[in-house]
Amino acid sequence: MIRHFLNLGDAGGDAVAAMINDALDRKAARAGVPKGTPDADTPLAGHVLAMVFEKSSTRTRVSFDIAMRQLGGAAITLDSSNTQLGRGETIADTARVLSRMADVIMLRTDDHAKVEELAHFATVPVINGLTDLSHPCQIMADLLTVIEHGKALPGLEVAWLGDGNNVLNSIVEAAGLMKFNVRIGVPEGYDPDAAYIAAAQAGGANIKIIRDPAEAARGADVIVTDTWISMGQAHAEAKLAAMAPYQVNDTLMAGAKADALFLHCLPAHRGEEVTDSVMDGPQSVIWDEAENRIHAQKSILRWVFGQI
Ligand code: CP
Ligand code: NVA
Repeated sequence: MIRHFLNLGDAGGDAVAAMINDALDRKAARAGVPKGTPDADTPLAGHVLAMVFEKSSTRTRVSFDIAMRQLGGAAITLDSSNTQLGRGETIADTARVLSRMADVIMLRTDDHAKVEELAHFATVPVINGLTDLSHPCQIMADLLTVIEHGKALPGLEVAWLGDGNNVLNSIVEAAGLMKFNVRIGVPEGYDPDAAYIAAAQAGGANIKIIRDPAEAARGADVIVTDTWISMGQAHAEAKLAAMAPYQVNDTLMAGAKADALFLHCLPAHRGEEVTDSVMDGPQSVIWDEAENRIHAQKSILRWVFGQI
């Protein structure tokens, strides 16, 4: 049975917890070592990751590449603009070919059905590097960051402010698996995926949509936001206007717990969904969160190969 990582649920709560512990251990073990130096045990020696990008990326691209180097393997990056996929070669045929040439495939794309189709036809593990529906690799780094900063997941109150997008869907999915609660502060018409909410609630998480941004943030342990216009979406003045009251600023942060953390997957649009004062302020852990993409990817890669 091939282990694909298309959503957090493919691994399940126990495996997610094990991956986070593995990431914490490996991160601690290589503190101070140059970033391109392989870990002593090189657990993925001889393995190659093929990364296919149909959308832009800075963090996902670099963190997967560095992760493979640290695990003793290598990575190849393909941009759809200069591959045959971009000229109409099918996902199925691309899956068959890359499965013969690489040991694991990562895809960043628009329609989630594409990553499912790739996994269906691949004979090696497939990792979702972001779709319009979800961004599970990001949430692995987010959970790692929250735990690293001393907060236990069960019972945690996470407040999301802004657009009900792919990143939020994966946070909601994580809530059901790891038993934390999400207070979703989104304007009407921009709710996250209803199926993710239903699944998380069935898993025992308390997921509430709260239209008043101040109420959503009140008493939260973690405040999270993301860009109001995601990749592939048209720049719409009406959407920006609807989002404006949900900006994460000092007033909103003041309503959360005094030791609340601020997370953002990045890239940020400073002055839109978040102010400079919050991004660069004492509660912001966004640079740890970005670095943790490397440590989280390593554990995801080890998990798909059955090493966790
Ligand atoms: N957070 C994230 O996925 O960043 P990139 O788009 O730069 O990969
Ligand atoms: N919601 C954003 C996340 C970027 C990492 C997007 O899809 O563009």
